[in-house]
Amino acid sequence: MKRKIHIFDTTLRDGEQVPGAKLNKRQKIEIAQQLAKLGVDVIEAGFPCSSPEDLKAVQAISEQIKGPVIAGLARAVKEDIDIAWEAVKGAERRRIHVFLGSSDIHLQKKLRRDRESALELAANAVRHAKKYCEDVEYSAEDALRTDFEYLCRVIEAAVKAGATVINVPDTVGYAIPEEFGERIRKLRERVPVLDGVILSVHCHNDLGLAVANSLAAIRNGANQVECTINGVGERAGNASLEEIVMALKTRSAIFQAHTDIRTEDIYRTSRMVSRLMNIPVQPNKAVVGSNAFAHSSGIHQDGILKDRSTYEIMKPEDVGIRQHKIVLTARSGRAALKHRLSEMGFTINPEQFERIYKRFLNVADRKKEISGQDLHSIVEIEMTKVPETFTFHSLQIMSGSTMVPLASVTLIREGIQCTDAATGNGPVDAVFNGIERIVGQQGKLRDYDLKAVTMGKDALGEAMVRVEIEGAVYSGIGTSPDVIEASARAYLNAFNRFFANSH
Ligand code: KIV
Ligand code: ZN
Repeated sequence: MKRKIHIFDTTLRDGEQVPGAKLNKRQKIEIAQQLAKLGVDVIEAGFPCSSPEDLKAVQAISEQIKGPVIAGLARAVKEDIDIAWEAVKGAERRRIHVFLGSSDIHLQKKLRRDRESALELAANAVRHAKKYCEDVEYSAEDALRTDFEYLCRVIEAAVKAGATVINVPDTVGYAIPEEFGERIRKLRERVPVLDGVILSVHCHNDLGLAVANSLAAIRNGANQVECTINGVGERAGNASLEEIVMALKTRSAIFQAHTDIRTEDIYRTSRMVSRLMNIPVQPNKAVVGSNAFAHSSGIHQDGILKDRSTYEIMKPEDVGIRQHKIVLTARSGRAALKHRLSEMGFTINPEQFERIYKRFLNVADRKKEISGQDLHSIVEIEMTKVPETFTFHSLQIMSGSTMVPLASVTLIREGIQCTDAATGNGPVDAVFNGIERIVGQQGKLRDYDLKAVTMGKDALGEAMVRVEIEGAVYSGIGTSPDVIEASARAYLNAFNRFFANSH
């Protein structure tokens, strides 16, 4: 019988620690809803004592999300644990996750404690959490660099104090797979009380080995992995959920293990996290990158046409990238679009549908065929639109290698067209300057990313920006077959977020 591997998703906690990826409460709930649909076992919803906003977001997730366990992180101090409990107590299933450094480096340099007092602190913290909550996870931070004998003692003490899950983090991404796997196997041998609890691992990706280390741990007896969507997280990130899940599924004969993840929801979740955190997914990213299932060389294409298994080890449909027989074009009516959207699993209200349909026609007029990925991009943007103080109408550019680019931009405010023109260092800069003149506000572009949603010359361009306006950073996203228009829409989206926030 295959062992079940528990998937502990920490996108909303470790993932959200990425600079600039901060999510608001509404966005966190949206991601949590999608994670529940995806079938994760645990959602680590935040670090409630880190800010009042985070506390509120974890409380809201606890009240609204049914199915997965909702976990709140706490340092091994009473106040943190009290706040974590306040945050998760409304959940149908809840967990307090307590952590404390255990390596000598952490004890001496960060905590300034000796091993014995840290061990006592850990056990007391677990006991305190246990007064509130049956399900308590204990993490021995920097476990990989911790003296093995001491690690065994800490783990034993935490289990005896009531921990139901023990987590072994490679906090700094230092492990290599054989070493990490061996550590997990030896822990199981040396600490028999581990048989009565869940043994978890949490790997960071500093050496690009987070997924490999997590898989090595699974082969050696770990039964929970902590991971994030798209591998987002501190520094080089955390182990990527989709890569671990698809490795377990694709090579199930080797791992003899399974997860409860509905893999067909992976692509959608990846897109949502990328869009809301404003972190683009690299094209060659395993499982969810735009090239992950694209075959470009002639020999490969020939093989794929003869039999997909020649060069494909997973089916795109398995992760929710569908290839449809009916092609959507500008002539596809409302019924065809509605049918495709419901096939893709979107639940859309009539008002959202009209907006999507309008945008679909606008894009389809300029692009021969609308692919599934194009549609994903359009739907996601339209469904999460902020109230628009200004709506994009049109733009014209005059640009060339020997002239200063000039852009004329038209936006609509309360039904009235407003047009202005500006020059810039390049056409995109000129358009951004034109937008600023109309909205009467200046922004500093902090980040700009442009990518094609699909392959081909007529690909839909997707622009993501981060703009600093009056000291705060707002993200924006826009799509169009015209990359300058996509950039303009993204820039305007960031300003609309600013206006929505300031009213
Ligand atoms: O990387 C780490 O050690 C952590 C712990 C809080 C589990 O994120
Ligand atoms: Zn971490």
